[in-house]
Amino acid sequence: MSDAAEGLAALRTAEGEAALTAAREAANGDPLAAAAALRARGHPPHVAAAALTQTDLRARAAGKFGDDAGRMFFTRDGLQQATRGVVAARRAARLAAFSGVRRIADLCCGIGADAIAFARAGLTVHAVDADPVTAQVAAANAELLGLADRIVVACADAASVELAGFDAVFCDPARRSGGRRVFDPGAYSPSWDFLAALPSRLPSTVLKLGPGIDHALIPSLAEAEWVSVSGDVVEAAFWHGPLAEVPRRATVIRGADSGAELTGSGDRLGDVGPVRDVLYDPGGAVVRAHLVAELADRLDATLLDPTIAYLTGDTAVTTPFARAYRIEDVLPFSLKRLRAALRERGVGRVTIKKRGSALVPEQLRRELRLDGPAEATVVLTRIRSRPYALLVSPL
Ligand SMILES: C[S@@+](CC[C@H](N)C(=O)[O-])C[C@H]1O[C@@H](n2cnc3c(N)ncnc32)[C@H](O)[C@@H]1O
Repeated sequence: MSDAAEGLAALRTAEGEAALTAAREAANGDPLAAAAALRARGHPPHVAAAALTQTDLRARAAGKFGDDAGRMFFTRDGLQQATRGVVAARRAARLAAFSGVRRIADLCCGIGADAIAFARAGLTVHAVDADPVTAQVAAANAELLGLADRIVVACADAASVELAGFDAVFCDPARRSGGRRVFDPGAYSPSWDFLAALPSRLPSTVLKLGPGIDHALIPSLAEAEWVSVSGDVVEAAFWHGPLAEVPRRATVIRGADSGAELTGSGDRLGDVGPVRDVLYDPGGAVVRAHLVAELADRLDATLLDPTIAYLTGDTAVTTPFARAYRIEDVLPFSLKRLRAALRERGVGRVTIKKRGSALVPEQLRRELRLDGPAEATVVLTRIRSRPYALLVSPL
């Protein structure tokens, strides 16, 4: 048994429980003092070390898993790669709503975040992970969260799982190598070829992928979804076969809210119009899903430039899919003109946003040499291919 496996096994005993409680009480930011406190209570060094590691990981996991974090076990890599609870719960609820989806295979279960969400949504889960400690952690989590009757965990290679008898298959491949994030699907584990072939084995396939996935890899009949949480695009997912409902979807989740969805074809260009009173900066999930034209329809807005994802409209419509700004001034870009406009307004602090501009905000900020009490937001962009600076204020 590896050290990590032994440490985990030790924590699942009564003595381990006591060590975890002591570690939680001793966790005051000073790891040496905490280790000394555990040793003073008679916990053997390997149990004390495992308890302190878990306590640290549980504290880090609170953002992803809320109250569950304090009861779950983690590995460092497993926590980093795990799906946030709110994202996993949404996906699981959608899957469980398809009639006929009851038994699901989770081929790369990690520490079990998606498997747990599937089980809570009422599905029966066969979860596998190729890494023995990770699989051990997933099994412990299923048990600790009272879901062991719905989740069976095995340590196995995804390729060895026979898919007959399952209604759906989910795979969230490892997108890290040597602790670093991997962007090339060719470096995913299991391989891209294995993932791409899954729908031919079981049509109801869902793949979780990196948000930067190349659109050229989206199969023609699949749905591609991008998900953002509190403004960060956290993943893409391909929904295959009967699970594909629309060509493209942007799912926007803020905090613990239930999320909002924008759907469409993903191949519309959108109309271009003159600069109006309001500027919209669409969120990353909308932009990545190529749904800016669909958003423009909802907001009664038009593009400033055919190739750039800024929209403009007459009145501010409240939307979860974009940030809105009042446009105060529209300046064809010149450093001198921008500096003069900002100085005239007494601006000393400037927030610089940009799309379609090669300017480097930090460098521009230095070159502006501003000094004044007021604050302003400057948007650098192109309008009909020409560079512009827009002075805007958040709405
Ligand atoms: C991104 S993580 C999965 C995270 C999981 N969905 C969660 O939310 O907790 C990917 C996992 O795939 C596992 N893995 C990589 N290659 C595999 C293979 N060929 N078969 C099974 N598991 C594999 C890794 O050990 C890792 O735990």
